[in-house]
Amino acid sequence: MKRVIVTGAAGFIGSAFVRRLLEQRPEVEVWSLDVLTGVAGHLGNLEGVGGPRHHLVRGDVCDAALVQRLLAESDADTIVHLAAETHVDRSIDGPGAFVRTNVLGTWTLLEAARLRWLRPGHDPGGCRFHQVSTDEVFGDRWAAGRGVEGDPADEDTALAPRSPYAASKAAADHLVRSYQHTWGLPVSLSYGCNNLGPRQHPEKLVPMVILRGLAGLPIPLYGDGAQVRRWLHVDDHCDAILLALEAGRPGRAWAVGPDRGTSNLELVGRICALLDQRRPAGAPHARLVTHVADRPGHDRLYHTAADRIRDELGWRPRLDLEPALAATVDWYLDNPAWLSRVTARASWRSWTERWYGGR
Ligand code: NAD
Ligand code: TYD
Repeated sequence: MKRVIVTGAAGFIGSAFVRRLLEQRPEVEVWSLDVLTGVAGHLGNLEGVGGPRHHLVRGDVCDAALVQRLLAESDADTIVHLAAETHVDRSIDGPGAFVRTNVLGTWTLLEAARLRWLRPGHDPGGCRFHQVSTDEVFGDRWAAGRGVEGDPADEDTALAPRSPYAASKAAADHLVRSYQHTWGLPVSLSYGCNNLGPRQHPEKLVPMVILRGLAGLPIPLYGDGAQVRRWLHVDDHCDAILLALEAGRPGRAWAVGPDRGTSNLELVGRICALLDQRRPAGAPHARLVTHVADRPGHDRLYHTAADRIRDELGWRPRLDLEPALAATVDWYLDNPAWLSRVTARASWRSWTERWYGGR
C-alpha cells in the first residue's frame, strides 16, 4: 500500500481514517475524494490535514470520467471506499440518493479499478479495493428469548437488509464480491458496527444527544429505546480497516465490533450522565429524553460476531464503551467552532426545521 484513494474522506470515518493513515504510515500518499456538497462531508473535517503526501479531490464517485482519471493520475494501488449516504432516517425520507451514491457510485469505482488494475500486462497483485460496509446489511438479529445477544451473524451469513440504507449497502457489497468472483479484482470488505467519536454529523444519535443535551432541548428516543447496537470508537474501526488492508488477504471479509451490545436507552443515559458531570448546571440531562414515534421498520438488534478479525488479524478495540463515550463527549465540548460550522450549514438547518420543528 503506497498510493491510496480514500472516498468519502471528508466524512466522519473517512476523515479519521485519512488522519490515521498519514500519521501512522509515513510512506503512504493519500488522495481524499469527496463530493463535499453532501450532508455530512465538509472541509472542516479535514482541517489540519495537509502536507505533500495529501491531495484533496473534490468529486462525485458516480462520475466515471473523474474517477478513472484520478486512478490513472494517482496510480493508486489501494482504494478505501467509504463514500456513501449514511443516515437511515434520510434513506426513509428519500431513498433515491442512497441508490445512486451507494450502488451506482460503488459500481463506478469498481469499473474504474477493473479497467486500471486488470489492464493487459499489469500485475494487480499489490492492489486492493476495500469496501467499508456495515453490520446493518445482515438485518435485524433480534431473536425471542436471546436478549441483547440475539442471533449473531458472521461474515458468511446471507445478507438480509431491511432499511433502504442497508439495502443499498448490501447491493454494493454484492457488486464488490462479484468483481472478485468474475474478474479476480482484489477486493476485501469490513462490516463495521455503529461508530462514535469526533466529527460525526449531529443527525446521528451520539452527537445529537450531546448537542441537544447541551442546549437543553428535547432528546428524541425512538419507540421504547430498547433497540440494541454495538458501539465502537472510530479510531478502533480505522485500525481494523488498516489491518485488513495490510495483513488480510484479498477476497476476505471481516466483521468489526465489540463483544457487548448496548440499548439506546442505556447509551443515552450514559451520555446524559457524562454531561451531568461536565455541565452540572444543566443536570439532570436525562430529564430531556423524550420518547417519540418509532422509526418505520426500525431494526431492534444488530450483532455481527467479530471472532474472525480477532483470530486472524489480532484486532481488539483499544477503547471500551465508557472511555470512548467520555472522549467523544469531551471532543464536542472542546470543539464548539466545529459544531457552529456544522450547524450553520444549510443542509443542517433544513433538517432541523423538518425533523425537530426548528428546535
Ligand atoms: P458520513 O456520512 O459521515 O460520510 C460520508 C462521506 O461520503 C461524506 O463526506 C460525503 O460528502 C461523502 N459522499 C457522499 N456522497 C458522495 C459522492 N457521491 N461522491 C463522493 N463522496 C460522497 O458517513 P460515515 O459515518 O463516515 O460512514 C462512512 C462509511 O462507513 C459509509 O460507507 C458507511 O456505510 C460506513 N459505516 C459507517 C458506520 C457508522 O457508524 N458511521 C458504521 C459502519 C460502516
Ligand atoms: P443512528 O445513529 O441513526 O444509527 P443507525 O440507525 O444506523 O444504527 O441511530 C442509532 C440508534 O438510535 C438507532 O436505533 C435509532 C436510534 N435513534 C433514536 O432513538 N433517536 C434519534 O434521534 C436518532 C437519530 C437515532
